[in-house]
Amino acid sequence: MMLEAKDLSKTYFSDGVDYQALRNVDVTIAKGECIAIVGKSGSGKSTLMHLLACLDAPTDGTVYFDGGDTSSLTEKQKNKLRNEKFGFVFQQFFLNGRDTVLENVVLPMRIRGSSNSRIAADAADALDSVGLADKTHKKAKDLSGGEKQRVCIARAIVGRPQVIFADEPTGNLDSHTGAAVEEMLFGLNRNNGITLVIVTHDDELAQKCDRIIEMKDGRIVAEHKQESAAL
Ligand SMILES: Nc1ncnc2c1ncn2[C@@H]1O[C@H](COP(=O)(O)OP(=O)(O)OP(=O)(O)O)[C@@H](O)[C@H]1O
Ligand SMILES: [Mg+2]
Repeated sequence: MMLEAKDLSKTYFSDGVDYQALRNVDVTIAKGECIAIVGKSGSGKSTLMHLLACLDAPTDGTVYFDGGDTSSLTEKQKNKLRNEKFGFVFQQFFLNGRDTVLENVVLPMRIRGSSNSRIAADAADALDSVGLADKTHKKAKDLSGGEKQRVCIARAIVGRPQVIFADEPTGNLDSHTGAAVEEMLFGLNRNNGITLVIVTHDDELAQKCDRIIEMKDGRIVAEHKQESAAL
């Protein structure tokens, strides 16, 4: 299994109040799979995704990546794991508006310490594949919402990750642009074998994934395997 969560629980402590956002969740995700996590607002979808992506640590339970227990990793090793194996696409972009499209896209590779020639070639490929080659030197703040989301996808794929975690990747986009972004993510899954974990409110998007995990009150309450997940 590429990703495996065993008996995950997460309690948030804030302002003296405990809130159990995740309760004894088990999930396994195979290499090349495309998974949708659905459920009402507050059901624990983002919490689960953040734990699977080692962006946050569980209160209880364990996340395994490629069979290895991620809780035994140091912060530095976790950063390296995220930087080298994972790509992230979030609804709130997290782009640096004052930097150019190119500068935003190459960030993961700079962190990794890739060579300048490698960075230039891979960034050009990534921008090309999201159809933004002509926007390379524009400031990120001057792009449309759909273009910003495509920059995020370029940044997520530039390091050739094994898994892309996408939290509401089309939530802020009009249906046409959303469909293009969707198509791009599914293409990466189909053509490059990248494992996709998508948190979404969009039922139609979820139906296109191989498997749907439905959450309620911090638990997985249903899991549906799609008969024909093809687009
Ligand atoms: N940092 C935090 N501190 C305290 N409570 C939190 C924190 N983050 C999330 N929660 C609570 O945990 C629960 C689950 O949150 P989570 O973000 O996982 O929900 P979600 O399913 O992603 O919702 P949405 O669809 O609205 O994004 C919510 O009730 C939320 O208020
Ligand atoms: Mg969320």
